[in-house]
Amino acid sequence: VTDHPPPNSGRSDGQITDDQKRAAAVAAAALVEDGMYVGLGTGSTVAYLMPALAARDLKGMHYTASSPATATAATAVGLTVHSPEELNRRLDIVIDGADQIAPDGWLIKGGGAAHTREKILAAAAARFVVIASAEKAVASLHAPVPVEILHFGATWTLEALAPAKLRDCPPSPDGNLIADYLGAIDDPAALASRLASTAGVVEHGLFAPGMVSDILIAGPSGVTHRSGAKAPA
Ligand code: 5RP
Repeated sequence: VTDHPPPNSGRSDGQITDDQKRAAAVAAAALVEDGMYVGLGTGSTVAYLMPALAARDLKGMHYTASSPATATAATAVGLTVHSPEELNRRLDIVIDGADQIAPDGWLIKGGGAAHTREKILAAAAARFVVIASAEKAVASLHAPVPVEILHFGATWTLEALAPAKLRDCPPSPDGNLIADYLGAIDDPAALASRLASTAGVVEHGLFAPGMVSDILIAGPSGVTHRSGAKAPA
């Protein structure tokens, strides 16, 4: 019997993870300033970002979203979302989640099948900020790596990607199939190069450290900030 219950007593792992996702999203929202051009990622961590941005009551904002789901969630809390073509300008900041974050800054993304659009936004951003709960930090990357592929010739594309299989999930925001590469990831750069050069591949979910400016990982004792390899523009 103890007088003092342990921290988080009575809370499920899922609730603790959700609290961490919210904490990382709130920390990232604090980096956004009035008048910025902002890209919004996709996923359950980013779902906490839109209310956090709305609560800041920022002025003169220009938002774009990496998926219809994010656009809907942003609009629901009063953020006005534009297409990239309407913005017609590079982005000041993009904030997005990740499935795995390696110590050297490599990421796996695409658990929500939106990694192609997410990579386009990240590449167009002066600052790309990754937000995550603690369990996303891994010692080394492991399968699966999501790969968006065209319907046309998908069987041959999958053969070329082997070991890989189609994921049973809705299509990407652009209507393409999602496959998962299931092999070892001994050398992420070499694998990224192989996946990118396979005919039929639209985009893969490996994000190189040079794309990432900041990584905010929320854990039991708060939000840890890691600087990424992408220099401020
Ligand atoms: C979507 C993504 C997500 O950012 C990634 O899957 C993390 O999602 P979540 O925050 O739900 O764990 O890459 O394509």
